[in-house]
Amino acid sequence: MRFLDIIEKKKNKLALSDEEIQFWIDGVTNETIPDYQTSALLMAIVLNGMDDHETAKLAEAMMKSGHVLDLSSIEGIKADKHSTGGVGDKTSMALGAMVAACGLKVAKMSGRGLGHTGGTLDKLESIRGFNCYLSEDQFKRQVEEIGLAIIGQTGDLVPADKKLYALRDVTATVNSIPLIASSIMSKKLASGADTILLDVKYGEGAFMKTIGDAKVLAQAMIAIGKKLGRDTMAMITDMDQPLGNTIGNALEVQEAVETVRGKGPEDFTELCIRAGEIMLIQGQLASTKEEARRQIKEAILSGKAFEKLVQMVQYQGGDVEQIKNTDLLPKAKFVTEIRSREAGYISRIHSMQLGILAMKLGAGRATKSDPIKYGVGLKIGVKKGDRVKRGDVLCRVYHDEDLDKDWLEEMYNSFQYSDQVQDPTPIVEAVLGE
Ligand code: URA
Repeated sequence: MRFLDIIEKKKNKLALSDEEIQFWIDGVTNETIPDYQTSALLMAIVLNGMDDHETAKLAEAMMKSGHVLDLSSIEGIKADKHSTGGVGDKTSMALGAMVAACGLKVAKMSGRGLGHTGGTLDKLESIRGFNCYLSEDQFKRQVEEIGLAIIGQTGDLVPADKKLYALRDVTATVNSIPLIASSIMSKKLASGADTILLDVKYGEGAFMKTIGDAKVLAQAMIAIGKKLGRDTMAMITDMDQPLGNTIGNALEVQEAVETVRGKGPEDFTELCIRAGEIMLIQGQLASTKEEARRQIKEAILSGKAFEKLVQMVQYQGGDVEQIKNTDLLPKAKFVTEIRSREAGYISRIHSMQLGILAMKLGAGRATKSDPIKYGVGLKIGVKKGDRVKRGDVLCRVYHDEDLDKDWLEEMYNSFQYSDQVQDPTPIVEAVLGE
């Protein structure tokens, strides 16, 4: 097989065969195909697409490029969820604790933050001593024993994706539905869970800017999951404003703890409960959404969801006192209130900009090697549609260094006003794959 012919074929808008896709991914993994040829094929895929069959084959070949976890020794259905990334997204730890408290086995591998989006691992590591790097045996044992583990990817998972993603990043070929869908799903498939719930975000702070694009990505990922025998569903959710009220690692852990204790913000609580309904049905622990909702609310009200979170932190070596009393989590040196200069209804909250402002405080990374400051971040005091007066608090900024003028100006510009009443946006726009 000549790789040149494969590039030529995609350039001419033809579908690649299973053997051709396998040949490509083998060549990427073994480094026998040079980057310039892979880059040419990636660009041809961006321009000419792939059908569902090719996309599923690509995901499968990538999944098999490295180690694939076998969770079959753990009794029952093993569940995973994945968010396409957003601002203030602390869903995994709160949702994981809620559904694990209802008896579901949650085996989750998470990532780190980059740019305006945060990462679950960074958030969890704001808890003193928390260990995100369990061995595979420890991971399985923990899922078996307590039903919940959230860790970083183990060493050799989907090496082809690491190589392809690094190339896509520098060749303007990230933005392609088949490439994004196969990249995300290859990692989910290799993580070994039986059921996958995808939280596909749309809006300013998300990868997909419109509901339509988010649905197309979700359908592509569902098609891959189903072709490869995994029960896969997706929610399309709003990222046109930050999720919940906090952005920043320790602040988000605190909000996740409040939410599992039933005192979280409305939008975030609703997102967790709606996601939990789907996961409990996928896990065959409930037959209707109403029944699942009852179970989750019971887990929150009884304190079982909170106990599950404490148990996970304990198993992974974290300081549980910081979860029992979140005032003990890392703290920034200063708190500054940002007050509204106008009156009106909040019409837009620029989540991407707020994510970048939080990153500049040290809550996130501009490049992969940047250190994180766990205590810094933003606590936003308003939601889209709220009516505010001049002088009302828009945001509390938790920071370690002085805030400069440009930063403050961008902060003020992150909120827009209207004199018209604003229609609320539902946090869950649609559920697909039912
Ligand atoms: N996240 C991934 O894991 N892969 C992509 O291609 C895009 C987002």
